[in-house]
Amino acid sequence: MKKIVVLGSINIDTILNIERLPLPGETMAMHDRSIAGGGKGANQAIAAARAGSETSFIAKIGKDHAADFMMDTFKNDGLNIDHVTIDDKAGTGKAYILLDEHGQNSILIYGGANQAVTTKDIDDAANAISEADCLIAQFEVPIPAITEAFKIAKENNVLTILNPAPAKQDIPAELLKLTDIIAPNETEAEAITGIKVVDEASMIAAADKMHEMGIEIVLITVGSKGSFYSLEDHSYGFVDAFKVKAVDTTAAGDTFIGYLASQLNKDLDNLVGAMRFANKASSITVQEKGAQNSIPYHNQVEF
Ligand code: RIB
Repeated sequence: MKKIVVLGSINIDTILNIERLPLPGETMAMHDRSIAGGGKGANQAIAAARAGSETSFIAKIGKDHAADFMMDTFKNDGLNIDHVTIDDKAGTGKAYILLDEHGQNSILIYGGANQAVTTKDIDDAANAISEADCLIAQFEVPIPAITEAFKIAKENNVLTILNPAPAKQDIPAELLKLTDIIAPNETEAEAITGIKVVDEASMIAAADKMHEMGIEIVLITVGSKGSFYSLEDHSYGFVDAFKVKAVDTTAAGDTFIGYLASQLNKDLDNLVGAMRFANKASSITVQEKGAQNSIPYHNQVEF
């Protein structure tokens, strides 16, 4: 069983079902409104646990009702929550998800307690990181904390996966050098490289630029098309998506990352197989509304 540590956010997602995004100045009625557990970090940790990995989560939560609800979810999924700590001042993070009729989303974030994760929190979790096979982080917690975690991981030969989401332009070079695998979507790849990712040629160009920044493996997720990989030796390829009808793409990328990490061998010799399995898991996530409630369990993904 793989040992995975996820450093990241916890959000309560409010999902607003709308026909389309409102125009500036327009007032619009929504079709429906619902609340679900979310946060890129929490979603990825839950995906890794449901994929069958022993998963520890490093995160910060508020002192509120939302926290009780989320902690119960984590316990039910068997996450190790020794390093999910409480922030007395800020509330649990929130996300407001505008979900259109085609299953496409736009997300607004209130960071709350997620923004209070410190390097001390990471140092307190150093043992968990050093004993892991793989450490995963995204950008909904502060960069100094991520950098500290990746330093500890690399000192202990732990594989590091950076999901650079939400998109960010000025990722510190120090963090990129500590990253083994970077997994952006097309928008995030463009933010990092300045190259608009629209086809195979631009994808290869963006991946090459990320290799130049010191990253060995670049994985770009391309929604309904699947995922693309590029290795430092310039070999690359596509792993096709499974064709399904998407009703909500929220947490599809998170499911991909959590499942990928839970499958990958230390020497990465099964990269393509792990990507295919992760694509299959995401294809299940998009068929249901909501983030954490739509992430599948291992037995639903086997094929
Ligand atoms: O990746 C999806 C997640 O992004 C949502 O659950 C929301 O909380 C935001 O963090």
